[in-house]
Amino acid sequence: MPQEKFVIRGGKNLSGTIRVKGAKNNALKVLAASLLSKELWTITRVPFVEDVLRTLELLRALGVEVSDTLSGGDIVTLRAKNIISTTLDTEVSKRIRASMVLTGPLLARMGEVVFPHPGGCVIGERPIDIFLKGYEALGASVELSKGFYHLRAKNGLRGSSIFFPVVSVTATETLMMAAVLARGTTMLKNAAMEPEVAALADFLNACGARISGHGTPHIAIEGVSELGGGTFQVIPDRIEAGSFALMAGATRSRLTVADCNPAHLDALISLLQDTGVEVEKTESSLTVDATGRKNLKARSIITHEYPGFVTDLQAPAAVFLTQLEGESRVFETIFEGRLNWTQELVRMGARITVADPHRIFVNGPAQLRGREITSPDIRAGMALIIAGLIAEGETTVHNIYQIDRGYEKIEERLRGIGADIQRVNA
Ligand code: EPZ
Repeated sequence: MPQEKFVIRGGKNLSGTIRVKGAKNNALKVLAASLLSKELWTITRVPFVEDVLRTLELLRALGVEVSDTLSGGDIVTLRAKNIISTTLDTEVSKRIRASMVLTGPLLARMGEVVFPHPGGCVIGERPIDIFLKGYEALGASVELSKGFYHLRAKNGLRGSSIFFPVVSVTATETLMMAAVLARGTTMLKNAAMEPEVAALADFLNACGARISGHGTPHIAIEGVSELGGGTFQVIPDRIEAGSFALMAGATRSRLTVADCNPAHLDALISLLQDTGVEVEKTESSLTVDATGRKNLKARSIITHEYPGFVTDLQAPAAVFLTQLEGESRVFETIFEGRLNWTQELVRMGARITVADPHRIFVNGPAQLRGREITSPDIRAGMALIIAGLIAEGETTVHNIYQIDRGYEKIEERLRGIGADIQRVNA
């Protein structure tokens, strides 16, 4: 794959409407869930991003019949009639953390799954202990041999009560999927309440699952013997929507963020409004107006599970904070490595003091200057694009593979609102 980079010339006025794609972190789980059913599933509004393509590759290798229109449309059809393997492809699994969500449905359907420790972003230690304990509670045996996990439940999974010691989005989703085909009832306690979890449960129910309590910390799943077919539209990507809203604030622009669900963005909207940015909502759009606002007030953020301030918006929010008057604090409570990227922002002129791996102080406003920078992960990559848009001069962002993992054709869409950003071969 050729190495590519983004070259951004900052300081341009942004305006107009930008449309939000389907949520990567909802699409990945629904695609994985197709392993639970022998019938045809049609998924629409699927974003054309690297992590989705890699997940489809994993599913095809397991025998799922997949067809997609992703290069020109957004529809994927899947049919897992005959599963031909219970081993996840090593190379792909090591690249994307979301490969882990395939293990639940595969174990439930086939009574066996083999996989390596999953990869993903460089945002901190990403253990899988909660998944493994959950599988054991559902009656599976877990063996680690030569770097591969072997999970077996030859007589099928059985319902159980599982308490999550920390709230985990993918562990909630994965164990919920596994429990759909288990015998008896499973209770998930201290479950994640993210909209992506609730949307997945609603769709599984539409296909014949019996899940209740999703969207709350207590999810009950009554096992069923099989799931039928169905059609599902992926929910709007709240991280993309929030990033565009923060982009409007940071660049002092007026942008309409269309095709989103503002009801999923309360914490972000509250932050923007507290600083002095104007936000207007409809059912499916946000108009964020920061034009002419010179003295936006410093505000602090603490990342938290939904409905708190989502960790995936911490990085773009931190760039916004560099443009506020006074000292803001960022307390990243979910991942211990997720503030390291701010060193790149400091190289661009941000005034940031690191208190400890979880906390920084941001002093603003700071004039950022164009630099050669490297994107360490998906969300920090988007943050560095926003930094490039407000910086004086030219910014080059390297390692944009990370950005392509989560945002579809981002440069084309940003050019549509006036940004000067080009993708060039490195
Ligand atoms: C999901 O990751 C998202 N990924 C992440 O988005 C997101 O940042 C995160 O949730 C938090 O919202 C997907 O949905 C594919 P967690 P996930 O398990 O589920 C600890 C992006 O940019 N933990 O909710 O992997 C873990 O270390 C990605 O799109 C354990 O200790 O995150 C963390 O501190 C990055 N043991 C906490 O739980 C486990 O077995 C919450 O992480 C599992 C997790």
